[in-house]
Amino acid sequence: MTSYPMTRLRRTRATAWSRALHREVQVTPADLIWPLFVTEGTGVEDPIGSLPGVSRWSVDGIVARAKDAVAAGIPCLALFPYTQPDRRSEDGREALNPDNLMCRAVRAIKDACGDDIGVLTDVALDPYTSHGQDGLIDERGYVLNDATVEVLVGQSLNQAAAGADVIAPSDMMDGRIAAIREALEGDSHHNVQIMSYAAKYASAFYGPFRDAVGSRGLLKGDKKTYQMDPGNAEEALREVELDLAEGADSVMVKPGLPYLDIAIRVKQAFGVPVFAYQVSGEYAMIEAAVAAGAADRDAMVLETLLAFKRAGCSGVLTYHALHAARLMGA
Ligand code: PBG
Repeated sequence: MTSYPMTRLRRTRATAWSRALHREVQVTPADLIWPLFVTEGTGVEDPIGSLPGVSRWSVDGIVARAKDAVAAGIPCLALFPYTQPDRRSEDGREALNPDNLMCRAVRAIKDACGDDIGVLTDVALDPYTSHGQDGLIDERGYVLNDATVEVLVGQSLNQAAAGADVIAPSDMMDGRIAAIREALEGDSHHNVQIMSYAAKYASAFYGPFRDAVGSRGLLKGDKKTYQMDPGNAEEALREVELDLAEGADSVMVKPGLPYLDIAIRVKQAFGVPVFAYQVSGEYAMIEAAVAAGAADRDAMVLETLLAFKRAGCSGVLTYHALHAARLMGA
């Protein structure tokens, strides 16, 4: 006796129209945040060796990239500065300079694009310190928590005054979200959002980023006394819970693909907007696979972005943002 399956899951997969109809999640350009690296000068494009296809741009170039992003439907940029070596110091005080590279870039984008695009600014001291750590250090090189938070508050107010729409603390100090929120409210920045890098791991995937901001060669040791241990998931939920209680509007999980389990758990536990950062090492892995002839870039990029959406993310920070947005728009 022959028995046929009554339920055939392949039925709905048989044609493109049906697959489109049954797809559970979609990714669109509106899901993307594009990280950009800013450098001094005019008309400068400075390619980053370990991030093939990604460059540092001078402020005029950053404005041009912002216009590209608007045209492609990308709603938000994330900015990171390459600070000139002579402006890096033990205490990272350049972060507080109202005319630093970051502030000039924010003002230029806002002047050119207004609210056509959001500007997210990273809060942490590593692009400004001579030792490459995200905060102030003691004589043993330990990153001091509370003293660092005070500087991060100043850095946040500086960025907000320049016109930043979203303040994104990536430093992993305890208590910084409350301190920054309080200061922003006190300075009438009621609608400046905080996207907290809440579950940020001490990861091997940040190497190319450190090249891009020029901190890799300066950094002694690692960031394990403040960034999370990759073995921990329960602790990520505690980090997120605290940052939400302290006033974060949205939370980030970082890196991205290796931590999708964290993203979905955060989404399920709190139901808040969750973002994933597909970091520099993840980008470099895809590009290396493409260069080796082992992968189809477009398909791989779109599949990874879909994976973040499936895991419950509201959006993704990715260096492939412009390319992906153009693919989706095509
Ligand atoms: C700095 C910061 C880092 C990244 C974003 N903000 C590096 C680090 O923590 O060492 C990494 C992003 C990437 O790898 O793409 N606090």
